[in-house]
Amino acid sequence: MSFCIAIDGPAGAGKSTIARKLAEKMGMIYVDSGAMYRAMALFMLEQGIGKEDTEAMNGCCGKADITIRYENGEQIVYLNNRNVNSLIRTEEVSTMASISCQQPDVRKKLVSLQKGLARKADVVMDGRDIGTCVLPDADVKIYLTASSSVRAKRRYEELLAKGEACEFDKIEQDIIERDHRDMTRAESPLRQAEDAVLVDSSDMTVEEVMETIVKICGDRKRGI
Ligand code: DC
Repeated sequence: MSFCIAIDGPAGAGKSTIARKLAEKMGMIYVDSGAMYRAMALFMLEQGIGKEDTEAMNGCCGKADITIRYENGEQIVYLNNRNVNSLIRTEEVSTMASISCQQPDVRKKLVSLQKGLARKADVVMDGRDIGTCVLPDADVKIYLTASSSVRAKRRYEELLAKGEACEFDKIEQDIIERDHRDMTRAESPLRQAEDAVLVDSSDMTVEEVMETIVKICGDRKRGI
């Protein structure tokens, strides 16, 4: 039986940074489930599907072959045998992913892929519905969050460091709207699983969050 850690939470809470570090520390595989939704969104954009055409989104997702491989410890997403890692982080893909991830056929396909990965290996998987839907029997469930203003500040500083022009208020407003969409959608909305441990990283450093989660994982392994 594989050992699985589920990390859910809103956008910008630091899930991927923590999940990647945790997987490395614990000798497990990091699965970024959001990257799969992004690859699916890229496929739809390349097919010329519009943001309102939910029927086409559900209809076409069977034609997208999405697989994950690991190269030098990094997760590479393949879309119909093409490495798409460098194409899935644009604003256009983010917007399409946040709409197409609400479609039942898209979710069915990607949840099944995610469950399959967790059957084969010890994984740290992050997303929105991992503890509630994908891995309801995960050994450890973490709900990682932070206030919207702290998440906006982190994103603002990230963009500034990259030399990109941005406005703090607009970033915070986008975060609030995205949270609302993720938490109120009909299909697998973002929520804390009943048996998940809440970690609020608003006033914590990455090291402090890691320390807290590593301790929770250690306690679970010992059955505490
Ligand atoms: O975490 P991210 O921003 O890379 O996720 C991309 C999109 O996919 C985002 O709109 C939320 C959605 N998503 C989801 O619905 N379920 C998941 N398990 C992971 C991501």
